[in-house]
Amino acid sequence: MGHPTLRTIADVYPVDRIGSVEFNELITDLRDTLAASGGIGLAAPQINISSKVVVIEIPVEETRYDQAISMPFSVFVNPRIEVINQEQQGYWEGCLSVPGLRGKVYRPQHIALEYLDQNGDAQQMELQGFLATVFQHEFDHLHGKLYLDHVRDTTQLSFEAEFLEFELDR
Ligand code: NI
Repeated sequence: MGHPTLRTIADVYPVDRIGSVEFNELITDLRDTLAASGGIGLAAPQINISSKVVVIEIPVEETRYDQAISMPFSVFVNPRIEVINQEQQGYWEGCLSVPGLRGKVYRPQHIALEYLDQNGDAQQMELQGFLATVFQHEFDHLHGKLYLDHVRDTTQLSFEAEFLEFELDR
């Protein structure tokens, strides 16, 4: 947080470069960084590449977010979100670019998604609940936004250690 790339609108990734050596290196870099950090999603601007590329991987054993949801390692290029239902729900979010903090963020819980996959093929997806939140968080990174921008109430901002000690009990 504080690096200008995180506050820059990322460039559309050139479709004709999907599958190139450069593209594959970017995906490998994102994948390795995500694995090393223990997160569930990473956007290219978080490794100082201002391109609209996101990777998400939610392990089956993931329990930090109190949701039994998983997703295999997936690549999302030039994603676009459409909100299907504006009704919002709050989740405690964290971010590898804002280490050590959690904050409660309210977002729409039913969205549609259009993107190109790792092979450059156009895909569509509909997401609800926690996954809708995860994708909105990651795609915000492509538009220069951080989850902190959405925290309405700073009493719902916590260090991770205190979050784990106190918030999960409420
Ligand atoms: Ni993040």
